[in-house]
Amino acid sequence: MFSIGKQKELSVARKKITVIGAGNVGATTAQRLAEKEMGDVVLLDIVQDMPQGKALDILESGPIYGYNTSIIGTNGYEETRNSDIVIITSGVARKPGMSRDDLLKINTGIVKGVAENVAKTSPNAILILVSNPLDAMTYVAYKASRFPKNRIIGMAGVLDAARFSAFIALELNVSVENIHAFVLGGHGDTMVPSTRYTTVAGVPLEDLIPVARLEAIVKRTREGGAEIVNLLKTGSAFYAPSAAVVDMVEAIIKDKKKILPCAALCEGEYGIDSLFVGVPVKLGAKGIEQIFEIKLNADESSALKRSADAVKTLCEQVDKLLATG
Ligand code: NAI
Ligand code: 2OP
Repeated sequence: MFSIGKQKELSVARKKITVIGAGNVGATTAQRLAEKEMGDVVLLDIVQDMPQGKALDILESGPIYGYNTSIIGTNGYEETRNSDIVIITSGVARKPGMSRDDLLKINTGIVKGVAENVAKTSPNAILILVSNPLDAMTYVAYKASRFPKNRIIGMAGVLDAARFSAFIALELNVSVENIHAFVLGGHGDTMVPSTRYTTVAGVPLEDLIPVARLEAIVKRTREGGAEIVNLLKTGSAFYAPSAAVVDMVEAIIKDKKKILPCAALCEGEYGIDSLFVGVPVKLGAKGIEQIFEIKLNADESSALKRSADAVKTLCEQVDKLLATG
């Protein structure tokens, strides 16, 4: 009646989700995916035995939490074959004093190698990039995988908007669920949290919080990653980042057509050309199904241009790194 094997046999086709990099973000993402039964999970890392150990630990939580997710750890790509979604978190994380851009060189090499492997083993996957510097690493994955632009998505805006929402909720002493935060631009100090398009229960944020406080909240949002790095001292944020990834995965798997801020390849939108920058997109079964171009005022436009210029500088460095192998 019962068969004994390593993985359960399934009669229903579940989505296969691979997480590359089983560090803080990767392992927590795998845990959240398992807990929400988003699909069957494969956790890959170059460190011997570690992803296997973490996957087994997550699997063994299932009986307590009540999930039936199949999850395995691996050091090779064979087990990831034909994944529907691949989340790339592999790379080096920030330490105090390091900027995201300091990570550029080492993470370009890592993300390029990973994306090439994924393109060979899961040619139809949707890629979600997490490694930093995010917008530039999404560009690296695009170049290395040669996947169409709808299947290459960078995670940052959902995290940045969540931080913005959390700080607004604290300020107004209201539920985070009432806040629709709006963030544009690259995932860096030049990101553009928009106070004009952010609402609280439908009410414009600028009607509720005085300008000086708003400026302080925007600054805290921009520096949200560094605030956590300075507290943790040995790494960067992973609880909110993994929650952001899973929000995006859920939108894709359930074909929600959810509008989320993601790093998407802009080809003329907002006057940005051939760069991955955070913009509002519709996420569904095909990945990025639409980029929404909303009307910006002069200040917002110039802030977004400044942010896109910062991403462009990094991508020019990436182009040089890729050209020299
Ligand atoms: P971590 O150091 O805890 O984990 C990274 C993992 O990647 C390690 O286990 C390492 O062994 C693995 N790895 C390295 N090279 C690999 C390769 N070639 N193949 C497979 N695995 C490999 O770092 P953490 O905290 O998980 O962060 C991961 C990345 O995500 C960092 O670059 C970090 O800056 C970035 N990040 C980005 C966020 C965003 O909003 N986009 C938010 C949080 C982190
Ligand atoms: C963050 O914003 C480190 O980019 C990462 O937390």
